[in-house]
Amino acid sequence: MTATALTTPRTAPDSLQDFVPRHIAVHPLTGHIGAEIEGADLSRPLDPAVVEEIQAALLKWKVVFFRDQPLTHDQHVAFASAFGQPTIGHAVYGFVEGHPQVYSVARNRFSDRHTGEQLIRPWTGWHSDITAAVNPPAASILRGDVIPPYGGDTLWTNLAEAYAGLSETLRGFVDTLRGVHYFTPPEGQDPTEDFIRRNSARPLISEHPLVRVIPETGERVLFVSPSFLKRITGLKPRESQQLLELLWEHVTRPEYTVRFRWHPGSIAFWDNRTTAHLAPRDIYSLDFDRQLYRITLRGDVPVGVDGRPSTAIKGEPIDAYEPENA
Ligand code: SIN
Repeated sequence: MTATALTTPRTAPDSLQDFVPRHIAVHPLTGHIGAEIEGADLSRPLDPAVVEEIQAALLKWKVVFFRDQPLTHDQHVAFASAFGQPTIGHAVYGFVEGHPQVYSVARNRFSDRHTGEQLIRPWTGWHSDITAAVNPPAASILRGDVIPPYGGDTLWTNLAEAYAGLSETLRGFVDTLRGVHYFTPPEGQDPTEDFIRRNSARPLISEHPLVRVIPETGERVLFVSPSFLKRITGLKPRESQQLLELLWEHVTRPEYTVRFRWHPGSIAFWDNRTTAHLAPRDIYSLDFDRQLYRITLRGDVPVGVDGRPSTAIKGEPIDAYEPENA
């Protein structure tokens, strides 16, 4: 593989068109999203120039991947801290005992949250992390530990490219809209007592613009996290549902996506503002275990095209983790 700075997603901001990494190799994986990075040892403190290049690759490719980085929890936290402020593992679902910034992405993590048979639609399960919060995480860093010999891939989609792919007329309309995000069991399923307990202890409901503007690049992003966005403010229920389904179907079109095959020690680092992702479902028909660990970085409050920030309807912003606010 050779590194390239020539392939550039259509929507990559001007400031990144000429990005040429000098300390790492960046290998794009698709036309619009995803690049594999070589040449950095994430178990050690990173040179600031390497951090800057990884940040630029992330802004441009939205999700970057590293191979053969078998980090400990502490090394994972140290790597994440080079790029922002880690939050508590998961604002609603907790953390790994003894490692408050680390969230366990275990195979059966949903089994004590919901019961019943899920209604599956093309966009079911796609989400950006914790958009029920007024300041959803800026980024997430997921590390593969126990990985099935086959199956269990994760997909990401580029929400800036998806925005650019809408007609100008529809872009003009969605630019003006806002929507309400919160946790519910997936369609067709019922909440368990654990779901009710956790979501009552930390209720999170927020209104975000449907199109958010990324401060560093000026990019506009279709911020329509399918698992959390429940209705568009000011529209009739049927109008809201039909428009959301159109947008969800659009953002999950294959040409905006990348699919990642995990190995133990693989790391995926995504911009949670400009992507949505889909956890695998095929693992439930296989007997293999799957265990990953995730750290999220504190995010800012999104701002829409009209300059209006998101608002919290219920709940507090997700802070950087400090022992005293755990
Ligand atoms: C996540 O949704 O953060 C986890 C994705 C995965 O399990 O692959």
